[in-house]
Amino acid sequence: MSQFLESLKDRRSFYSLGHDVKLSEEEITTLIKDAVKNSPTAFNAQSPRAVILFGNAHEKLWNIVEEALKPLTPAEAFPNTQAKIASFRNAYGTVMFFKETDTVKNLQEQFALYADNFPDWAEQSNGIATANTWTALNSAGLGANLQHYNPVIDDAVAEEWNIPANWQLRSQLVFGSKEGEANEKEFLADDERFRVFH
Ligand SMILES: Cc1cc2nc3c(=O)[nH]c(=O)nc-3n(C[C@H](O)[C@H](O)[C@H](O)COP(=O)(O)O)c2cc1C
Repeated sequence: MSQFLESLKDRRSFYSLGHDVKLSEEEITTLIKDAVKNSPTAFNAQSPRAVILFGNAHEKLWNIVEEALKPLTPAEAFPNTQAKIASFRNAYGTVMFFKETDTVKNLQEQFALYADNFPDWAEQSNGIATANTWTALNSAGLGANLQHYNPVIDDAVAEEWNIPANWQLRSQLVFGSKEGEANEKEFLADDERFRVFH
């Protein structure tokens, strides 16, 4: 099997993440930039944006999530929520993925024929960039899991890191050293998902 397919198979959701990371912050940053820059986007629009958080900034994000969820969570359920958030805070870093929305609007004006497609394509482009980053981190020995605390944290995140108004938060990829195994994963039967004709 190709090394690429091995990398795809090896990427999983790792929820138990720690700080035992051998790569430097610069190396991780370069890896994330390479993964995002080399991910395809519709019309080469390059609408995905990434904000990489390490150290205090990473912890700050998960404090923001905890504060935002507190008024939205029943009191009896909040300890569980806090424990989950603590597991993300205990990781090494987070990549926040954004979608640059002016690009979509400009393309819709420029190419009226495809106007309805551009929002979907921008989402797909974010998904591709996110999956490639996730796989690249995994190939470098780092575990990751993907979270979606947008939109409840959008305003606080924008204020904390001075995020432009045209960057819409789409996901949070939490990463760190692998401190546990991935869960069992089931696959649908191939004949439910694939059809081959000759
Ligand atoms: C578009 C998308 C959204 C996801 N959202 C979440 C999420 O909000 N929280 C979470 O824990 N996992 C999330 N996941 C991870 C999936 O649950 C996970 O990838 C799937 O169960 C397969 O497991 P694996 O990643 O170990 O292969 C998401 C994955 C994708 C592709």
